[in-house]
Amino acid sequence: MHEQIKNINTLEELQALYTATYGKNGTMTARLRDMKNLDNDARAALNTENATLRELFKTRQAEIENAVLMAGLQKQKLDMSLNPEPENRGTLHPLTQSLSEISAILESFGYTMHTGPEIEDDWHNFTALNTPLHHPARDMQDSFFLENGNVLRTQTSAIQIRAMESESVPIKMFGIGSTYRKEMDATHSPMFHQIEGLYIDKNITMSDLIADVRAFLSRYFGIDNIELRIRPSYFPFTDPSIEIDLKWQGGKWLEIMGAGMVHPNVLRNCGVNPDEYQGFAFGFGWDRLAMLKYGLNDIRQFYDSDVRWLNKAGF
Ligand code: DAH
Repeated sequence: MHEQIKNINTLEELQALYTATYGKNGTMTARLRDMKNLDNDARAALNTENATLRELFKTRQAEIENAVLMAGLQKQKLDMSLNPEPENRGTLHPLTQSLSEISAILESFGYTMHTGPEIEDDWHNFTALNTPLHHPARDMQDSFFLENGNVLRTQTSAIQIRAMESESVPIKMFGIGSTYRKEMDATHSPMFHQIEGLYIDKNITMSDLIADVRAFLSRYFGIDNIELRIRPSYFPFTDPSIEIDLKWQGGKWLEIMGAGMVHPNVLRNCGVNPDEYQGFAFGFGWDRLAMLKYGLNDIRQFYDSDVRWLNKAGF
C-alpha cells in the first residue's frame, strides 16, 4: 500500500485509493471499526499504521499538487531576454495642440488669455452683450437654459464682458472656452469651443481688426499671401458687424469668424465711455480652425476619444 501511494501520479487516482481505504466501505474503515476486538498490541500497531497511511496520503497529495502547479508555470515561462513591445505614447489632444498654437500667436500680438464660467448668468451671456430679453438672437442660438435662469455659455463673448468689468481700459485680451448649443451634426456638436478676441483703446478702427485677423490667420495656417473676404453681417454686440471668409485650396471661400466694432451699448454696460474708447471684437470656433488645419471632417470625432482615430489622424 505504501509503495502504491508513492507511485500514484494524479489526484484522481489518489482520491480513488483514498476512498477505497477510508471511504464508507474502505478497507481501513472496516479494520478500524473492528479495533475493539483486537488486543492491545494489535490495536497500537493499527493506530500507527493508520497514522502513517494518512500522512502518506497527505504528503502525496501535496507533492502531486505541487507538480501540477510547476508544470503550469513551466508552460507560462517568461522569456526575460525578449525585447518589450514598444509602448504606445500619449500625445496632446488635437484641440489642445491647436489651442497652444492659437494662443501663442495671439499672445505674441499682445493679447492676454482669459477664461470664464461655463454656466453663465443672463447678464454676461446676453444682456450686457446688447442682447436684451426680447431679442431674436436669443432664439437663434438654441440655448441650454437652467431652471434658475442661468445658461450654459452659448458664446465666449461673455468672457469679454467679464474682462471689461474686471480690468480697466485699454484692454487687449482673448477668451477661450467651451460653449454649448442645441445642435448636432458632422460640423456641429452641442459642446464646442470658441475663442473671442477683444481690443479696446483710443482710436481703434476696423483696419486694426482686419490687420490682426489677417496676421493671425496667415501665421496659424502658414500661408503668406492669405486672401480674405469681408462681408457685412449682424451681431447685436458689434456695429458695424462683419463676417470674415478665407480663400481655401481650390478657390473655395470658407466662413471663418464673426467680428466687428464693439457696440457703444456694450462699452457702456461695462463702464467704458464710448466717446473716449473704441474697440473691436472677433469670435471663431476653435474646433473648426483645428479641423481645417488638420484636414478633419467630423467635429464629433474630437470628443469620442477613439485612439485609433487619433493615430490615423496622425496625432
Ligand atoms: N459670439 C458670436 C457667435 O457665437 C461670434 C462673434 C461674432 C463674436 C462677432 C464676436 C463678434 O466678438 O464681434 O456666433
